Amino acid sequence: MKYGKIIGTGKYLPKRILTNIDLEQIIDTTDDWIYSRTGIKERRIADDETCYDLAILAAKDALKASELDPENIDLIIVATMTAEYATPAISCLVQKAIGAKNALAFDLSAACSGFVFAIHTANQFIMNGTFNNALIIGSEKLSNIINWEDRNTCVLFGDGAGAVVVEASEEQGIIETICRSVGEDYACLTAGIKRIKTPFKNVNIEQDFIEMEGREVFEFACTKVPQCIEEVLEKAKLEKSDIDYYILHQANTRIISKVAKKLSEPLDKFYTNMEFYGNTSSASIGIALDEMVKAGKLKNKKVILAGFGAGLTYGASIIQF
Ligand code: UT7
Repeated sequence: MKYGKIIGTGKYLPKRILTNIDLEQIIDTTDDWIYSRTGIKERRIADDETCYDLAILAAKDALKASELDPENIDLIIVATMTAEYATPAISCLVQKAIGAKNALAFDLSAACSGFVFAIHTANQFIMNGTFNNALIIGSEKLSNIINWEDRNTCVLFGDGAGAVVVEASEEQGIIETICRSVGEDYACLTAGIKRIKTPFKNVNIEQDFIEMEGREVFEFACTKVPQCIEEVLEKAKLEKSDIDYYILHQANTRIISKVAKKLSEPLDKFYTNMEFYGNTSSASIGIALDEMVKAGKLKNKKVILAGFGAGLTYGASIIQF
């Protein structure tokens, strides 16, 4: 039996920093409101770089760490909700840029749960013997789909990309994963529905931005994430005491505190970096993973990744490093 194992991580963050103080100049908000309600101080904004540029740069960083020859990559999955193209999948642009001629490439749409959904998907291919490895990327240029006049949302998000390379191994790396969708609540968080004018229907052509029922999504995350973590631990026959760190989607420090409390786990087991990057949707878990790996924190450690977001969707994965 083969298991997926993470053999390399990478990330890319655009250079431009947009602070809460900068936002005070653009809309009716304060640094104090943003930081106290979310834990965010600043975020990165991509100027000329596209969502696929960010994906390519994170992919190259992860490939370098994994020392895998691009021609030997079997599968590329880009989790994103901000791709510039409806088609082709931006994973095909990544394929071209890195020279992964022999890979199957497709995108995956599960918003802020996308990274965990992509890990789960890749791991199925590896466990059933179809593929020997996979390059997984979460990439977002959220600044493209934000309504910069809506203070409820524009202060929350940032641009960036995170990536991992997963390879088949005799040792268990990706130990267990659970992913779920709750389509019933889809309207709580939507973005960028493109309306086009056709000869058959009179519609206004306008960009639709991210819209979120913040409180509903907050409650959803605080309820489903701890439940999902308990469930995945049970499935893996592990205890919370076996887990060294939790890496949750970086949306709000208050969500992380609530989840920690519900699990009766100390807050210092929960990694946070939203202070510097804001909410980068599908990229957040990959970015955090790469920071922890490069800081030498994950050697021989067991980690739980947990995503939650639009769909609504959520998922948790136990990873052995
Ligand atoms: O990544 C996908 C998953 N997304 C999430 O997990 C996000 C989950 N939700 C949240 O993190 C929180 O709900 C938010 C951070 C989005 C909002 O925090 P909240 O404590 O739920 O605030 P609220 O939306 O209930 O708004 C409270 C007040 C409102 O004023 P009134 O109506 O009480 O007078 C808002 O108008 O805060 C006001 N407000 C702001 N004030 C200053 C909303 N945004 C701002 C702002 N600056 N940027």
